Amino acid sequence: MRKVAVIGVGHSKFGVRKDVNLSELTYEAVKPALEDATVSMPDIDFVAFATVGGMYEESLPAVVAAEYSGFTGAGLVRCEAACASGSAAFYTSYLNVASGMSDLSMAVGMEKMTEVDTPTMMEMIGRAGSYLWEFHNFGMTFPAYYALYASAHMAKYGTTEEDLAEVAIKAHKYGAMNPHARFQKETDMDQVLSSFLVAWPLKLYDCSPICDGSAAVILASEEKAKELGIDTPIWVKGVGHSSDTANLSKRSDFLGLQASVTASRKAYKMAGVGPGDLDVANVHDCFTIAELLAYEDLGFAERGKAAEMVREGETEVGGRLPVNVDGGLKAKGHPIGATGCSMIYELTKQLRDEADSRKRQVPLKNNLALAHNVGGTGHYCYVTILER
Ligand code: COA
Repeated sequence: MRKVAVIGVGHSKFGVRKDVNLSELTYEAVKPALEDATVSMPDIDFVAFATVGGMYEESLPAVVAAEYSGFTGAGLVRCEAACASGSAAFYTSYLNVASGMSDLSMAVGMEKMTEVDTPTMMEMIGRAGSYLWEFHNFGMTFPAYYALYASAHMAKYGTTEEDLAEVAIKAHKYGAMNPHARFQKETDMDQVLSSFLVAWPLKLYDCSPICDGSAAVILASEEKAKELGIDTPIWVKGVGHSSDTANLSKRSDFLGLQASVTASRKAYKMAGVGPGDLDVANVHDCFTIAELLAYEDLGFAERGKAAEMVREGETEVGGRLPVNVDGGLKAKGHPIGATGCSMIYELTKQLRDEADSRKRQVPLKNNLALAHNVGGTGHYCYVTILER
């Protein structure tokens, strides 16, 4: 396998984007990514497009959005792994370059979720797991799945609703500093705890919002990065992936996501590093409990100790391991197909020391970052380790 570098990244504004259609929204990320990599569209040999789709009339939009962006002729595929679709596209593009098939490839993720109302969206994304069995028989929705995990964690480890709220408060603090974030406003304990109940113990402020957005990443071989004169290539040092049962009743407990454990161990092994070496991480906080589960699954904290990390400020800028200092899915937003590429965007900027605000730039020591992207309730997981 060849060495592969991230050489260009682009990001749209996340939010309710009634002002653009899906192709225009995609191009908002593609254009800055091309400029960042100093390449033009015909240079790109392969494009992996991430979208769950189905919520707009153009239900398989890869070719339409690619044509609008000027990519006719490039190899093209749509990747889907539920909320980890962006990382599946990143992985596909990475393999394309690592294998020697292409010298330059792109992963682009886009979702336009606000085209449908919330109940319709709930029903559609409920299909990420065992839809016919669990959604139809038991009314299981995404918030309900993560509520199972939250209540199990509370029962076993004494995690509280206030602990979950601390995750939301941290997310909104950094979202307020991120110009791409859907929610650019801080929140506090009272607002989080008094927000309406979605699925106990999860309230409105424990949930990531339904929103629209796109993100793009350009990958190059070592030779190509040199030829282009890229001065800060960000190397893909490790990748790991895993999946788990579709049916949650087949899982042994609801205290963590086995797919996250397996995927992260593979990525650490490939990169030859451990959680203690990381300077910064983005984890899949689709609900506040998911961020706590991630700390424990990825080895950032011992089992049952994740809430302590947040309470003690260890995952803030300046703390032991800053996590989701772009606002995370919770405050930046979670347009499903875009999320995996959005994480790579943020970590690339962090490793280049180019965060949009110095207040959310992490100090760099080992120049290592980790992205953790989950699809469904741990039905799919991708972990990527980057190094400057
Ligand atoms: N956090 C904080 N505020 C939120 C929010 C969130 N997650 N979602 C919406 N809001 C705000 C809106 O800005 C709006 O505020 P305003 O009245 O001041 O304008 C208000 O809450 C109502 O927004 P609306 O879009 O009508 O909310 P909703 O009730 O339709 O949807 C949820 C709220 C939580 C049910 C919905 O966002 C949801 O289902 N989230 C989870 C998505 C999901 O499962 N993703 C996949 C996970 S892997």
